[in-house]
Amino acid sequence: MKVTKAIFPVAGLGTRFLPATKANPKEMMPIVDKPLIQYAVEDAIAAGITELIFVTSSSKRAIEDHFDSNFELESNLLERGKFDLLEIVRSILPNGVSCAYVRQKSPRGLGHAVLCAQQLISNEPFAVVLADDLIDGGKKTCLQQMMDVFQETQSSVIAVEKILPLASKKYGIVDVIPTQNRLMPIRGIVEKPHPDQAPSNFGVVGRYILTPAIFPLLQNTTVGSNNEIQLTDAIAALLTTESINALQFSGIRYDCGSKLDYLRATIAYALKHPELATDFSLLLREFAECIV
Ligand code: G1P
Repeated sequence: MKVTKAIFPVAGLGTRFLPATKANPKEMMPIVDKPLIQYAVEDAIAAGITELIFVTSSSKRAIEDHFDSNFELESNLLERGKFDLLEIVRSILPNGVSCAYVRQKSPRGLGHAVLCAQQLISNEPFAVVLADDLIDGGKKTCLQQMMDVFQETQSSVIAVEKILPLASKKYGIVDVIPTQNRLMPIRGIVEKPHPDQAPSNFGVVGRYILTPAIFPLLQNTTVGSNNEIQLTDAIAALLTTESINALQFSGIRYDCGSKLDYLRATIAYALKHPELATDFSLLLREFAECIV
């Protein structure tokens, strides 16, 4: 089966970036000149996703506006002959890609957010993309790499990367059967374990391809870590009936939920930005010289 739908859980409050996120969604924070959510959407579209499902909350209207057309802006750019900018604005959502929005009324966790989108997914596999995790996959986006695996296996796939053992409390951690390559069958998964209890040092990053069998399990998932309904717990339940693989994807992941990694992402993307790369690297050198 082909995967054409992706869920983007964007209802979170973004408290780690207050006050910037008081009135603006954290997913709209830019890396250079593009909001985080657009990078996440581009990852999905490159992987063949054509239906974007955003699980939002009342303060996230800016996300809807970003993926909608803006008549006033477009006619203004047209009148002034700013065709390059017009193209940038118009190509945010390519032809053939549609958006749907569903509200998560209260912040009850990632598992609950995914469950909110159930009505928009029929009996088909789907992707889940967390915009906080900005991934530069190089030639193939992270979700493209995962899609290749799904086409071969028709089983759920979860993106993982090696993390520092002490960071296990920030991630879902998988227990895998080691292999000679980057694809490893999962035999267990646990949400944010204490380092002493972590089954490996492979942390889940925000890209999943899941079979629809996850939904009834999510309905039966009770609150877990952080008093929230965790996707990780439903995935652990899915493992009793289906095989699931972890993919150690190729590429660099930036945790844009953390201020330091957000800055690292900004530097990395500015250094490869067509208009800024040269001047920005000079600027960085100037700064580096001042640091003793
Ligand atoms: C969520 C998931 C966690 C995963 C992480 C990746 O946690 O629950 O399993 O490792 O995303 O970013 P959150 O960062 O929302 O607390």
